[in-house]
Amino acid sequence: MPGSVPKPAIPVIEANHLTKRYGSKLAVHDLSFQVYGGKVTGFLGPNGAGKTTALKVILGLLSPSSGTATVYGQEYKQLDTPLAVVGAVIENPPFHPARKARDSLKISAACMGFSYTRIDEVLNLVGLYDVAKSRVKTFSFGMRQRLSLAAALMGNPPILILDEPANGLDPQGIHWLRQFLRSYVSGGNTVFISSHVLAEIAQLVDDVVVISQGRLVAQAPVGELLSRTTTSLRVTSPQIDKLVKVLEPFGVNIEVLAQQTVLVTGKDEGINALKVGQLAADNGIVLSELVEQRSSLEDVFLDLTSSLPTKRFSQ
Ligand SMILES: Nc1ncnc2c1ncn2[C@@H]1O[C@H](COP(=O)(O)OP(=O)(O)OP(=O)(O)O)[C@@H](O)[C@H]1O
Ligand SMILES: [Mg+2]
Repeated sequence: MPGSVPKPAIPVIEANHLTKRYGSKLAVHDLSFQVYGGKVTGFLGPNGAGKTTALKVILGLLSPSSGTATVYGQEYKQLDTPLAVVGAVIENPPFHPARKARDSLKISAACMGFSYTRIDEVLNLVGLYDVAKSRVKTFSFGMRQRLSLAAALMGNPPILILDEPANGLDPQGIHWLRQFLRSYVSGGNTVFISSHVLAEIAQLVDDVVVISQGRLVAQAPVGELLSRTTTSLRVTSPQIDKLVKVLEPFGVNIEVLAQQTVLVTGKDEGINALKVGQLAADNGIVLSELVEQRSSLEDVFLDLTSSLPTKRFSQ
């Protein structure tokens, strides 16, 4: 349509030059990032990076030393009905083990000022409706996590902030969380979840904000981080010079390791053992060794978080 210029997305959560000190300890340092609606955004950083501190500042549980953290452009404390805007699980609520799940949520609802009529809805949402009358002490770790999530959903909030929700979950638990979060954001809601393990939440998130030592190191779609994984191939051939000429047009990096051996490194999608094997066969080149090594997501994460100063790359 003529004249229709796409409007820039407005962030739902925003940190702007956020700094938080605990005495002389600088936990969050000049941190700026944005979280957008309709997406699951991962907040990544190694232990002690400042994730929980930043989340607590966003939720008004801690005051910033300087800078701002806003939700819909306002400080959390300025929101009219904050519990109906942001549902959060920062530290798991201390549900009494002898209390039944539904009764535990009654207490949560009462504390937050929400109607009991919502309890069955949230139990359904987290898949605990059938065990609502069971005592919390009979719940598995994953079920307790879901009960915490149910409490956070009580106010039907459009934003969920979860601190390390995947930590300790088994593969089925992660699968369930992924399905839940995808369905939650599909209607335009926003999720911001922290983790100290990229591989753990790579399948859950759309975007990532990566911090290290309280500072931003990256903000990007998760696909951009995933595309940073590389494949290295150790190739030995009596016709290595010929093979190098065949491989050069693929934009790969070639390092000579020995007289007849090279290390070929390229992006995952660009090069792999099958491709090199086929190219060698097509060109009548004999290979005596072809070994593939992949850099893992954790290698990418370690690379990002171990080298300060900031390496910000574009969205
Ligand atoms: N109340 C506090 N008083 C003093 N220092 C604190 C306090 N809380 C956290 N810190 C320090 O601030 C830094 C950031 O801690 P924070 O808990 O925010 O990190 P994190 O990224 O959530 O780590 P984790 O992955 O282990 O949960 C750490 O060095 C921590 O020791
Ligand atoms: Mg933490």
